[in-house]
Amino acid sequence: MIISSWCFICAFAVLIDKVCLEVTGVIGGSVVLPCSAKHDCKPQDIYVHWRDKNGKIVHDVIKGSQTRTQNSPYKNRAESFPAEYLKGNFSIKLINLTHSDAGKYICHIIHSSELQIVELIIKVSLQDTVEAVIGGSVILPCSTAEHDLKLQNINVHWRQNGSTNVHDITKEQAIAAQDQHQRFKNRTEAFPEEYVRGNYSIKLNNLTHADAGKYNCHITPSNEQETVELIIKESRSKSDTVGTSLLWVCTVLLTGASCTYYL
Ligand SMILES: *[C@@H]1O[C@H](CO)[C@@H](O)[C@H](O)[C@H]1NC(C)=O
Ligand SMILES: *[C@@H]1O[C@H](CO)[C@@H](O)[C@H](O)[C@H]1NC(C)=O
Ligand SMILES: *[C@@H]1O[C@H](CO)[C@@H](O)[C@H](O)[C@H]1NC(C)=O
Ligand SMILES: *[C@@H]1O[C@H](CO)[C@@H](O)[C@H](O)[C@H]1NC(C)=O
Ligand SMILES: *[C@@H]1O[C@H](CO)[C@@H](O)[C@H](O)[C@H]1NC(C)=O
Ligand SMILES: *[C@@H]1O[C@H](CO)[C@@H](O)[C@H](O)[C@H]1NC(C)=O
Repeated sequence: MIISSWCFICAFAVLIDKVCLEVTGVIGGSVVLPCSAKHDCKPQDIYVHWRDKNGKIVHDVIKGSQTRTQNSPYKNRAESFPAEYLKGNFSIKLINLTHSDAGKYICHIIHSSELQIVELIIKVSLQDTVEAVIGGSVILPCSTAEHDLKLQNINVHWRQNGSTNVHDITKEQAIAAQDQHQRFKNRTEAFPEEYVRGNYSIKLNNLTHADAGKYNCHITPSNEQETVELIIKESRSKSDTVGTSLLWVCTVLLTGASCTYYL
C-alpha cells in the first residue's frame, strides 16, 4: 500500500506542486492542515494517508477510522475529525508546533485517488506589524516556545532594517549596550522577568519617524528569527480629529444647544 501510494505521489508531484495551499502556525500552537475530497464514498472504504516532506507517517485513516500508527515526531500530535469524513473533509490538526514541522505535507485520499499538498509555515509570532505614534512607545514582540534552553546561553539580537543595532540581550548587558546604535541609546527596555517564559520582546520609547521599518529578533543558539514591521503614525491622524469634531457638532445639533464649536 505504502509503495503504491508513493509511486502515485511521484508521478503526480509535478502537477500537484501548482495547487499547493499555505497555512501558517506559530511555535507551541496548533494548526489545521486542510484536505478535502471531491468525491464521497462509504465510510468503510475511506483510506487517507498524511505524509510529511520526508515520507514520515503523520496520520492515517484506514477503513474509515483514524489510527495511531504515527512516526515519532508526530506521535499524539496529529488527529483528524471523524465526524467530518462523510463530508469528504480529511483535514488534520497538528498541535505543539515546533520549527521542524515547517514544510510540505501530502494528503493522499487513496479511495478517490486524490492528492493535496499543504505547505506549513512556522513563525515565532503571528504578529507581523505594530503601529505606534510619534513620541509614544511600543512593544516589539519576540517569543520562543523552546523553554528548555539554558538562559545564560541565550543571545537575542534585535536589528532595524537588517543591520542597525537596536538592542542585544546577552549575559554581558553592559558590553552589549556599548554596541547599541546611537539612535536607540536609552530608548530600549527588555523584560528580564519574562525571559524564563521565552519572551524576548523589547519596548522602544520616545518614538520618531526614523524608527519606522522592519525589526528582526534573532535568537541564538536556537537560531529562531522573527520580523515585525513598525509603522509610525502622527500623534493624531487628521481623519480622527475631524471625525470627532463632526460627531461633537452632530451631538450638539441633536440636543438643540446653540453654542459655537471649533473643528
Ligand atoms: C503538548 O503540549 C502540552 C502543553 O505544553 C503538553 O502538556 C503535552 O504533553 C504536549 N503533547 C505532546 C504530544 O507533545
Ligand atoms: C474540516 O473540519 C475541520 C475541523 O472541524 C474544520 O476546521 C475545517 O474548516 C473543515 N473543512 C471544511 C472544508 O469544511
Ligand atoms: C543615556 O542616559 C545616560 C544616563 O542616564 C546619559 O548619561 C546619556 O547621556 C544618555 N544618552 C543619550 C544618547 O541620551
Ligand atoms: C512579553 O512581555 C511583554 C512585557 O511584559 C508583554 O507586554 C508581552 O505581552 C509578553 N509577550 C508574551 C507572548 O507573553
Ligand atoms: C522619553 O520618554 C520618557 C518616558 O515616556 C520620558 O520620561 C522622557 O522625558 C522622554 N525623553 C525625551 C528626550 O523625550
Ligand atoms: C527602514 O526601512 C523603512 C522601509 O522599510 C524606511 O521607511 C526607514 O526609513 C528605514 N529606516 C532606516 C533608519 O534606515
